[in-house]
Amino acid sequence: MSGPQVSLRPARESDGEILHAWASDPDARAASFHPEAIPWDTHVAWFRRSLSDPGCTILIIETARGTPVGTVRFHRRDEESAVVSLTIGKQHRGQGYGTAALRAAAALAGPDIRTLVAIIRVENVRSARTFRNAGYLPAGRTTVNGHEAVVMRHERPGPAAVVPRRPRGTGA
Ligand SMILES: CC(C)(COP(=O)(O)OP(=O)(O)OC[C@H]1O[C@@H](n2cnc3c(N)ncnc32)[C@H](O)[C@@H]1OP(=O)(O)O)[C@@H](O)C(=O)NCCC(=O)NCCS
Repeated sequence: MSGPQVSLRPARESDGEILHAWASDPDARAASFHPEAIPWDTHVAWFRRSLSDPGCTILIIETARGTPVGTVRFHRRDEESAVVSLTIGKQHRGQGYGTAALRAAAALAGPDIRTLVAIIRVENVRSARTFRNAGYLPAGRTTVNGHEAVVMRHERPGPAAVVPRRPRGTGA
């Protein structure tokens, strides 16, 4: 299970431009359920809103040398699940960053999040493969905005069960 080393940090306001560039890439638009181009002003308004939304977490994926290569996003769906989105910059794809980032990101969803859900357009085989490699399992199909999609889920382990200690000297 080796792959490139990545680190994840929360997005900050100065990441607006690179996030817009990643989101505007033709493959990223084609993978989206709203594939039309994203005007800069729309992006800025969305990014500001998202940064202050407690139900949204935007992480920047960086290489071991600190180069930003993509982004992972969590959108809380309900009390215990979140939808995950992933984009890797074009020149960094196919090098294992997507898989490594998903594996690392799972630990960073809120502590009460038990289930991570990915919703992937059926034709996006590369994305489905990336999520599968990171431990997500197929969980049915759905339609979003008229686009057929596969649903993949990753169940996070719950907190370790606490086994009560037997008081000393009680025998057995
Ligand atoms: C999907 C995406 C996030 C994957 O990131 P990545 O860093 O390239 O992924 P990895 O390198 O970790 O893994 C890619 C996997 O897809 C496979 N793959 C690459 N091209 C493929 C293709 N055309 N068809 C099928 N599998 C393909 C690779 O072989 C690899 O699998 P393997 O390790 O089992 O061989 C990236 O391509 C991307 O940002 N695409 C545009 C946006 C997008 O689709 N986002 C996901 C929306 S749900």
